[in-house]
Amino acid sequence: MKRNIIVGQSGGPTAAINSSLAGVYRTAIDRGAKKVYGMLHGVQGLLNEHYLDLSDYIKTDLDVELLKRTPAAFLGSCRFKLPGIHEDKAVYEKLFAILDKLDIEAFIYIGGNDSMDTIKKLSDYAILTGHSTRFIGCPKTIDNDLALTDHTPGYGSAAKYIGTSMKEIIRDSFCLEYPQGLVTIVEVMGRNAGWLTGAAALSKCEDCDGPDMIYLPEVVFDPEDFKKKVKQLLTKKPSVVVAVSEGIRTADGRYVCELGNTSDFVDAFGHKQLTGTASYLASFISKELGAKTRAIEFSTLQRAGSHIASRVDILEAYSVGGAAVKAADEGDSGMMVTLQRTSEDPYQCQTAVKNVHKIANDEKCVPREWITKDGTYVTDEFVAYVKPLIQGDVSPVMVDGIPRHLYTPKELYKK
Ligand code: F6P
Repeated sequence: MKRNIIVGQSGGPTAAINSSLAGVYRTAIDRGAKKVYGMLHGVQGLLNEHYLDLSDYIKTDLDVELLKRTPAAFLGSCRFKLPGIHEDKAVYEKLFAILDKLDIEAFIYIGGNDSMDTIKKLSDYAILTGHSTRFIGCPKTIDNDLALTDHTPGYGSAAKYIGTSMKEIIRDSFCLEYPQGLVTIVEVMGRNAGWLTGAAALSKCEDCDGPDMIYLPEVVFDPEDFKKKVKQLLTKKPSVVVAVSEGIRTADGRYVCELGNTSDFVDAFGHKQLTGTASYLASFISKELGAKTRAIEFSTLQRAGSHIASRVDILEAYSVGGAAVKAADEGDSGMMVTLQRTSEDPYQCQTAVKNVHKIANDEKCVPREWITKDGTYVTDEFVAYVKPLIQGDVSPVMVDGIPRHLYTPKELYKK
C-alpha cells in the first residue's frame, strides 16, 4: 500500500468486531499504509469529518491484544442508510471529497448486511466517477445471516455465550419447586434468522438436557400450540425452559413481541426494535396455566460477552480484517471477505472474497431441514455446524479481578 486507509464499524456490535479492527490495522501497517484512519460512528460520522488516526491509540502489541478482547465497537457504530447513488449526489460528493482530502486508497467497512449496502453503493459510485479508492466489506454480525459466507465473525462468541448461559439457567431452574411448575422463557436476538436462537441447543450435553423447546423465526409460531406443549411438559417435569427468537411471528405475520407492550422504535433500514417476546409469552403462560414464569432477555449481554469469547471466532475475525486489507491492496473493490469451510474434521476455514452486490441487504436464514419437523428444536446437523465455531477460549487480561479493555477514545462521545 502506498497511501492511507480508513476503516469503520457499523451495525450491532459483537465480541469480535474489534478483533477485525485489529486485523485491519496490523495488516495495513505491515503492507505499508502510511496512516490508518478510523471513522467515528461509521460513515455517518465520516460525513461530519469525525475520524481519528488509529496509531494514536494502538501503540503496542499489548494494545492489539487488548483490542481483540474488547467488546462493542471501539470506533463507535451507526445504522445509517446511504441514499441511492442517483438520489442524492451531494452526499457522495461530500464523502469522496473527504476521502480525497485524507488520501484514502482503501475503505474497509466492518458490518452486516445493511453495512454491505454502504460498500455496494460507494464502490458503484467510485466506478461511475472513475474514483480510485477501493471499497471492501468485512463481515460481522451475531445474527450470522450474511449470504455467501459459511458464517460471520461475532456469531461464534455469541453462540458460545448463549449455550453457556442456557446451561446455567437450566441448572438454576431445577433448584426450587413450585406447585404449578416453573416455566422459563429465554429470548435471543437474531432478528429474522434463527442461527443464534438455535445455539441454545449447545447447552445439551452429557451433564445437561438442554432447553425443552427452541423456537426459530423461520417457523410460524402458534401461541395455542405452544401453551399445549408447555402444559404437557409440566405434567412430566417441574421446570420447563424454552428458548425463543426475538423474531418469531404468528401466522398473520405479526411479531409475537408486538402482541405485548413493545417498543415502536424503527431504525434507518426500517427494522423494528424486537424486544419483549419472552416477557409476553411468560405472562401468557402464567395467565393461562397458572405456573410461575420467568422471562429472560439476553439482550446486549449476548453480543458483549467477551469474557467468554470463542478463540476460533476471535482469530477468524482478526483474519478477515487482514484479508480485507489484502484484497484492497491487490486491487479488489465492491467485494466482501467471506469464510469458506474447507474441512469439517478437523474444522478448517479459509478466507475468500465475494461480490458484495450478491450479499448486501440479503438475509440468510436457517435451512428448514435443520429445524425439526414440529418446529420446536434444531437438528444434529445444526449443532454440528455451530460447534466448531465456539471452540477455544481467549483469556481476558484481568486487572483487579475485572477484564481490561482497550479504552474507547473520548472523541467518540463528542457531539
Ligand atoms: O443486527 C444485530 C442485532 O443484534 C439483531 O439481532 C438485533 O435485533 C439488533 O441488532 C438489535 O440492535 P439494537 O442494539 O440497535 O437494538
